[in-house]
Amino acid sequence: MNVTGIKPKGAYVIVCGNEKGGSGKTTTIVHLSVALMNAGYRVATIDLDSRQKSFTRYLNNRRDWSKRRHLKLPLPDHFVINQSDADYIYDREQAEIAEFSEVIAQVEKSHDFILIDTPGHDGHLMRLAHSMADTLVTPLNDSFIDFDVLGHVSPDTGEILRLSHYAQTVREARRYRNRADNGLLDWVVVRNRLTQLHSRNKEAMLRSLKQLSMELGCRLAEGISERMIFRELFPMGLTALDELDEGSLGRKPSLAVLPARQEVRALIASLRLPIDELGMQRARARQQWLEKAFKPIDTAGILAE
Ligand SMILES: Nc1ncnc2c1ncn2[C@@H]1O[C@H](COP(=O)(O)OP(=O)(O)O)[C@@H](O)[C@H]1O
Ligand SMILES: [Mg+2]
Repeated sequence: MNVTGIKPKGAYVIVCGNEKGGSGKTTTIVHLSVALMNAGYRVATIDLDSRQKSFTRYLNNRRDWSKRRHLKLPLPDHFVINQSDADYIYDREQAEIAEFSEVIAQVEKSHDFILIDTPGHDGHLMRLAHSMADTLVTPLNDSFIDFDVLGHVSPDTGEILRLSHYAQTVREARRYRNRADNGLLDWVVVRNRLTQLHSRNKEAMLRSLKQLSMELGCRLAEGISERMIFRELFPMGLTALDELDEGSLGRKPSLAVLPARQEVRALIASLRLPIDELGMQRARARQQWLEKAFKPIDTAGILAE
């Protein structure tokens, strides 16, 4: 049973993406996974960052710690898409896309949510994941260097002069998806590692982000503060949403657990994840789209024209 008692029949896809490394994608996707599992959903997770595999390592640490401390930490059904070692780029891409689509087909009907972590660089799998997402979560450090991945800002007025590469990538993914199955991508930008102090930079960032959100059609979610707790839990695979006490941690938890947990919950609430008939329709449409997307082009038909 989940929080609302309504279960989607098809899986809902959440992707964490930002073409910048270190923005908080992996930390965010781990917290989202635990939140959804705690709420009773069946969660499948996919790590597309085959170089760093931080998501995979986080979950492996969680499994190991759980065994060592005799805890009952929920774990998702996890998959990592490995880099192909084929000689030619085309063959490598095809092999990786085939592996990815196999995993999606395997879990789409058996799980409520599929959560995908992406690498901090452009690539075929990253693009494919973006065009499959129902919700795209883009964590963004509160700095104009990080903002630059989305849009170039005027130094005088703070206005957005033009969109950057990643913003264009998401736009294309959105268009592609919409043409394929009329699906709508809900794009949510989350400010991460916010300082607790009021600053001119913080205000300026917020102004530029509000302008950008109108141009891109993305939403701004509640932000997450810079907190040590988000860094120190990785070796144990724990999150701010787990029960953190001497039994699970091996020491007293810090006082920052409660505010950290509240922030993550506020973020999840602002994602407005659909768990109703609309969500089911989207999942069915996505299945049709996947079937179309991987069908080879019927050249006989074209040549006969
Ligand atoms: N809110 C936060 N407060 C403090 N440290 C954070 C926070 N979010 C992420 N980090 C740390 O920042 C670094 C990058 O985060 P990570 O989730 O690995 O980003 P990405 O997956 O985008 O590369 C990690 O060391 C992580 O522990
Ligand atoms: Mg990462």
